[in-house]
Amino acid sequence: MDQAQNLRKMAWDNKRSAVYVTVSSGKGGVGKTNMAVNIAYSLVGDGKKVLVFDADLGLANVDVLLNVTVNKTVKDLLEKKAKIEDIIVKNVGGVDIFPASSGFLRLTTLSDEDYDILTDAFIKMDKMYDVIIFDTGAGISENVIKFATLADFFIVITQPEPTAVTDAYALMKVVKSEYNIDKMFVVINRVKDESAGKKVFDNLQKVVDKFLQIKLEWLGSLREDPAVLKAVRNQKVVFNSHPGCGYVKDIDKIASRIIGRKVDVKNNKISNFLKRFLS
Ligand SMILES: Nc1ncnc2c1ncn2[C@@H]1O[C@H](COP(=O)(O)OP(=O)(O)O)[C@@H](O)[C@H]1O
Ligand SMILES: [Mg+2]
Repeated sequence: MDQAQNLRKMAWDNKRSAVYVTVSSGKGGVGKTNMAVNIAYSLVGDGKKVLVFDADLGLANVDVLLNVTVNKTVKDLLEKKAKIEDIIVKNVGGVDIFPASSGFLRLTTLSDEDYDILTDAFIKMDKMYDVIIFDTGAGISENVIKFATLADFFIVITQPEPTAVTDAYALMKVVKSEYNIDKMFVVINRVKDESAGKKVFDNLQKVVDKFLQIKLEWLGSLREDPAVLKAVRNQKVVFNSHPGCGYVKDIDKIASRIIGRKVDVKNNKISNFLKRFLS
């Protein structure tokens, strides 16, 4: 790549335009994947172009939930046998999916050329989508912390039980100390109503205010709703199978809060993120 090309790339990279949302949790099984996917459908309903990037190598990941088949992987991309568009599973009811099984998270040693190919792919994705949602694995030991660095909205979702809240707190603490991220968004899942969720949030915020230098923002809560499990069992998305149910109403609220907020795009270049991520 010549100098001019390099400069063009850097200029582009500075102007990333998609909104990046990372969904994480301290504890597993608290509702990350369902929230990520349903928010995506809600945003598509508002006319947004949305990618769900599955960054969870666990079992219950996005390809399983949505029953999609994966063809090409990042290996094909690096060997120039595939383009990024071939890895992304397009238009799963309107949402595009970057599958976990594509092997992105298993990348280890990368040449400069590999690195350029990946940066180009990310720049392309940035242009293709209005919103990119990373669905991460649970806990501190996973790549989740790294995905936090790219996010405009770093969302920590938890259930109200003290064990889950404690794990959420521990995750926040590590993300703050590792990457100095000092603004986080919270969703409380599986509550009776919004005010029950707000109570849990208020208590968490008190502790965070006292011991961590993090500004917590309330993004909303999600009702306990039997429609979620029903949908999961049928490999359906509750947003589509049970439109208008309580959970979907709450999802719509959270989605509009995300999109309605003016994002102050950080000086957070895609290339910086990738360098950090892949090193
Ligand atoms: N609001 C909810 N109401 C009822 N059940 C829920 C709700 N949120 C999650 N669940 C249940 O929890 C399970 C795990 O959710 P999932 O989104 O896969 O969690 P994670 O991605 O955090 O592991 C779902 O399969 C579903 O049965
Ligand atoms: Mg999950």
